[in-house]
Amino acid sequence: MPEADTSTKKKQYFPEIPQKLKPFPLKGAGSYDWGMKNRLARTFDPKTGHTVMLAVDHGYFQGPTTGLERIDLNIIPLIPYCDALFCTRGILRSVVPPQSTKPMVLRASGGPSILKELSNEEIAMDMEDALRLNAAGVGIQVFVGGEFETRSIHNMTRLVDLGLRHGMPVMGVTAVGKDMKRDAQYFRLACRMIAELGATYVKTYYIEKDFETVTASCPVPIVMAGGKKLPELDALTMAYNAIQGGASGVDMGRNIFQSDDPIAMIQAVGAVVHKNMKPEHALELYQTLKSKHAAKK
Ligand code: R5P
Repeated sequence: MPEADTSTKKKQYFPEIPQKLKPFPLKGAGSYDWGMKNRLARTFDPKTGHTVMLAVDHGYFQGPTTGLERIDLNIIPLIPYCDALFCTRGILRSVVPPQSTKPMVLRASGGPSILKELSNEEIAMDMEDALRLNAAGVGIQVFVGGEFETRSIHNMTRLVDLGLRHGMPVMGVTAVGKDMKRDAQYFRLACRMIAELGATYVKTYYIEKDFETVTASCPVPIVMAGGKKLPELDALTMAYNAIQGGASGVDMGRNIFQSDDPIAMIQAVGAVVHKNMKPEHALELYQTLKSKHAAKK
């Protein structure tokens, strides 16, 4: 039998105070339902509106990439320092401890290996499995200008429909072909198409000239992709410039896990993304942490 409310404490209805619900602050996300917003709030830190996603999904098309040969040894220790991990469901189930409370964003496209035409992708996981795995989002490549452009766009729109049905954010990734020009004109086109066709947020590359026009003309958040390994100061400068240019975070892989000290590097990136730390100061932080780690060995 449920118990009756016999408390003698005075009821507090506060009729003079209107009920409040703060507007959801993430760019372009105000009209989503609660589940979608909650997943986004787990990925983009509500205090800063930014995210440090750690991308370790490279194996889905290129096998055991340098730094990712043993995700259990090299990547799991980095999880406490990221806001979200971007990985495949294979790695999630086999290697990531379910005790982890960090949000997991899952790679949801695949098909061709590096030996074939990469734009020839398909959706490579069911939304039901993403829900079963308690994912905070799914990610998919979109090859604007690529050989299988239309297919990759339809893959994304099908995933967006499923994501909307279940409250699952979809990250559309601008996949740039080897021979394509990486300039603001291209990224404005690709990011805007991905957003217009329904992606919840977009992952794209930083470009030195006019990056702010890419973020300004994209109605949803942009997270910066890392790209190939750079010297630490250059990678931190790129992340800093992207944030100052309107990015809502980063989804970096090789520039973190191929660094001499990935734990130090991810913390330095975090300081840039969440605290607007200048790259030179972030490099000092990296070096200090690296020296401390070396002293402990
Ligand atoms: C790009 O979106 C691919 O999924 C990559 O595997 C990865 O996310 C790229 O990370 P990075 O270029 O920072 O190593």
